[in-house]
Amino acid sequence: MTWDTIALNDASHIPSVAFGTWRRGNGEEAIDIINSAFSVGFTHIDTAQAYRNEAEAGAALRASGLKRKDVMTDIDASIRNSCEALGVDYVDLYLIHGPKHAKPDIPTIWKKGEAIKESGLAKYMCPAGFESIGVSNFTVDLLKILLEFATNKPYVNQIMVHPQVMHLQMPVIEFCRKEGIVVEGYSPCLPLIHYVDGPVTAIAQQIARRLVLLAWAKSKGVVVITSSTKLERLKDYISAGDFELYTDDVKAIDAAGMSDPKELPS
Ligand SMILES: NC(=O)c1ccc[n+]([C@@H]2O[C@H](COP(=O)([O-])OP(=O)(O)OC[C@H]3O[C@@H](n4cnc5c(N)ncnc54)[C@H](OP(=O)(O)O)[C@@H]3O)[C@@H](O)[C@H]2O)c1
Repeated sequence: MTWDTIALNDASHIPSVAFGTWRRGNGEEAIDIINSAFSVGFTHIDTAQAYRNEAEAGAALRASGLKRKDVMTDIDASIRNSCEALGVDYVDLYLIHGPKHAKPDIPTIWKKGEAIKESGLAKYMCPAGFESIGVSNFTVDLLKILLEFATNKPYVNQIMVHPQVMHLQMPVIEFCRKEGIVVEGYSPCLPLIHYVDGPVTAIAQQIARRLVLLAWAKSKGVVVITSSTKLERLKDYISAGDFELYTDDVKAIDAAGMSDPKELPS
């Protein structure tokens, strides 16, 4: 599947997939992995002071050879320090990391946003007001408070998005959609890590197994013949055509097959 861009509410566009630097370490380790992200095609990077690797993100950005204008940068609080650490003159999107960072209150933090707009440190600060800054982890109620007095809407709300929190997040997503605020969803893979025995991991693994085996068969250069009584499954089969395994993955599946060989049916 191709990762397109998503339009912000001023009709500018941001890449619809981003590389986040949380838990990506420090020093060479962080620079290497951020470099790798740029090298495979990520052009949107999500950093935060709290992640303690903004300098590494800046070093990777400079080493990447990418032009500053071709990379999208999201950061949270303390913008001047972050710009210095990243070694950039501005960031594209300035996020208030969460409601608890909106201190002492939401109106005051938006005044801070206005000052940032005037400083030119955030590219999407627009003359009319606040629409260049985004928020993170804002609920519908908090967004309503913000919109009540904001001259313009925030560009984005960055929230956790995975299947086991959708009962909480769907109303936020719908509200943002209605208001023209782009939702950035973080931690989509969290169920695989934190709820390993849960139903989402089970279904994800079941689907992955199916898609992976079709992609593996395709990698052998054969015409893949499959079947199902279920329309949804047939759609999955078709979409698996976009899915390509790495050579090492194919080799790992080959080896697993050889380690447990079976006879052909008679
Ligand atoms: N605004 C906020 O409050 C906030 C909060 C959290 C995150 N974020 C942003 O969102 C970014 C992404 O968050 P995230 O790391 O939680 O995203 P994620 O996509 O849910 O998780 C990525 C992690 O999942 C692991 N993973 C992927 N598939 C797996 C599998 N099958 N089994 C076990 N582990 C698997 C990866 O491990 P490997 O490294 O081994 O591949 C990787 O470390 C962060 O870097 C940060 O920029 C923002």
